[in-house]
Amino acid sequence: MNNELNIPRHVAIILDGNGRWATSRGLNRSLGHKAGFKNLQKLSKHIFKKGVKILSVFAFSTENFKRSKEEVDYLMNLLVNDFKKIIDKNQNVKIVFSGRRNNLRSDVVRSIEQIESTTKENTEFLLNICFNYGGKSDIVDATKKITKDILSGKIAIDDINEENYINYLYNSIPDIDLLIRTSGEQRISNFILYQSAYAEIYFAKALFPDFNCKEFDKVLKDYSTRDRRFGGIKNSN
Ligand code: FPP
Repeated sequence: MNNELNIPRHVAIILDGNGRWATSRGLNRSLGHKAGFKNLQKLSKHIFKKGVKILSVFAFSTENFKRSKEEVDYLMNLLVNDFKKIIDKNQNVKIVFSGRRNNLRSDVVRSIEQIESTTKENTEFLLNICFNYGGKSDIVDATKKITKDILSGKIAIDDINEENYINYLYNSIPDIDLLIRTSGEQRISNFILYQSAYAEIYFAKALFPDFNCKEFDKVLKDYSTRDRRFGGIKNSN
């Protein structure tokens, strides 16, 4: 069925536009996150069915703490109370969280650890939830870990290279092939920086709650037309 399509191994999505989706309907912003969460449940299953092996999503950035307490609490509670619903026992999805945990509520950290431990033996797909995540903090925290390993004599400076650097990031996840941002904004907003070095980028107009399976299929079609050269030149002619 997917013969004509080139399926990316790793897709990453900046889930943007929940707030605007809600306010344009006269609703509280939190209801936009509720709608976005519902959409993510359906969409992630669809994306894995299409053959994508790794899906990373930006669910909460380090900067999102600047929002109202009500909105921050809503997102934290969504994780604690509803996130388990996203675990489909038949889908063999390992779920990992990327981001700082030291300033998260203890019940949030407990939920994260519980979800990771329940799904750790799953091997077919990987869902990477970037939560309290920043692309810069990922690199800074990795640098600190590397420095510690060098100072303790565990590794030598010259042992560090572009490939094994990812082992020091929050999760050693391979490069992103396709990076999607919904809602029409055209920014990376401190999402995964290291592994998006050669990502194909797609800016979708739909607000995240409206970015459905059909919209994703359109992006896949577009991705199949991209000529990925990784800094080289075309093989033919
Ligand atoms: C950005 O839209 C979205 C977020 C900050 C939250 C995204 C979260 C989800 C879709 C739910 C997943 C939840 C968990 C707990 C894993 P925005 O609020 O910035 O929208 P706006 O730009 O229209 O204001």
